[in-house]
Amino acid sequence: MTALRRIVLNSRPQGVPTSDNFRLEESTLPEPNDGEVSLRVRYLSLDPYMRGRMSDAKSYAPPVPLGGVMAGETLCEVLASRHAGFSTGDTVLAATGWCSHAVLSGDSVRHADTHGAAITTALGVLGMPGFTAYSGLKIIGQPKAGDTVVVAAASGPVGSLVGQLAKLYGARAVGIAGGADKCRYVKETLGFDAVIDHRSPNLAADLQAACPKGIDVYFENVGGAIWEAVFPLLNQYARVPVCGLVAEYNAPVSAGHDRLPAVMSAILRRSLQVRGFINYEFTDDYFSTFQREIGPRVAAGEIKYREDIVDGLDNAPEAFIGMLSGRNFGKLLVRVEAD
Ligand SMILES: NC(=O)c1ccc[n+]([C@@H]2O[C@H](COP(=O)([O-])OP(=O)(O)OC[C@H]3O[C@@H](n4cnc5c(N)ncnc54)[C@H](OP(=O)(O)O)[C@@H]3O)[C@@H](O)[C@H]2O)c1
Repeated sequence: MTALRRIVLNSRPQGVPTSDNFRLEESTLPEPNDGEVSLRVRYLSLDPYMRGRMSDAKSYAPPVPLGGVMAGETLCEVLASRHAGFSTGDTVLAATGWCSHAVLSGDSVRHADTHGAAITTALGVLGMPGFTAYSGLKIIGQPKAGDTVVVAAASGPVGSLVGQLAKLYGARAVGIAGGADKCRYVKETLGFDAVIDHRSPNLAADLQAACPKGIDVYFENVGGAIWEAVFPLLNQYARVPVCGLVAEYNAPVSAGHDRLPAVMSAILRRSLQVRGFINYEFTDDYFSTFQREIGPRVAAGEIKYREDIVDGLDNAPEAFIGMLSGRNFGKLLVRVEAD
């Protein structure tokens, strides 16, 4: 008998989530039926989109029901398989949610392939966040040599790859991050050309000084005050892949005045391309190209990434709450139990 532990949504948050919004439940892992696999979760990926799933506001994906397991992608070991594609001991990616074990249809899981890089990268730089950076930047941002590319949350899994790819494509990369340690990492380890601390009281002036030729691609991860600082600097024909708005997930930011007419007018006058996307729009056409192009560079250490690994499923709620205010430093993962 294997104990199954899972974290469910106890209540919907009003504003910043608290630990009361989560509840730990324990039961017994059922045996797999024909076509199913039984899984032990090794690593759980914590991602900002999960805040949206906690709310029942209309969105691109359905909310987690009250009492339902928190949604999430995991890296798992196959304990037992009644599916021809998997054997005991295989390492697979699965959407088990926040739990220690699961039984799922074998058709819903896939082998993890990281081209020789650490297996955890399958949830980070070589997984959904990395692919988001790659597809959003290449397909929507279309950086050209000499362009200035700006991205915030620049030390995280999405932003760190956006900046490194911008450099590979011959553009100038300007990162925005919170605090001296993250800023140093973005400039010195990731190799961005310039970095701005968004906690600076002079954010707009600092950004203008770092972008003397304006901004050609703004990869939008954050919204709020950063968007306000970026917007006046967008050049003619600038592209804005709208990837995320993490500053607004806990409470919509309202500047107290309606800037929408001014924004729409500038989109018209400067011929800006502002395009929202969710990474899976591009999965079928680009995911394997992404892995072939980026996997070997990660394995060779040419593309840098950083992980922030928290031990124990019980600590997932606190780690997730912290990520929404920037307490994580790198791709946030939970090592569900000791290997
Ligand atoms: N469209 C898609 O398909 C898709 C897929 C994946 C991710 N995303 C989005 O991409 C963005 C980055 O995701 P990630 O996984 O790479 O996250 P992450 O960087 O690991 O974590 C979120 C980061 O956001 C920053 N942040 C939070 N509140 C902020 C605020 N008020 N102002 C400025 N920065 C703030 C913090 O970094 P600092 O300490 O540096 O501020 C925090 O560490 C998120 O908006 C996410 O929702 C979208």
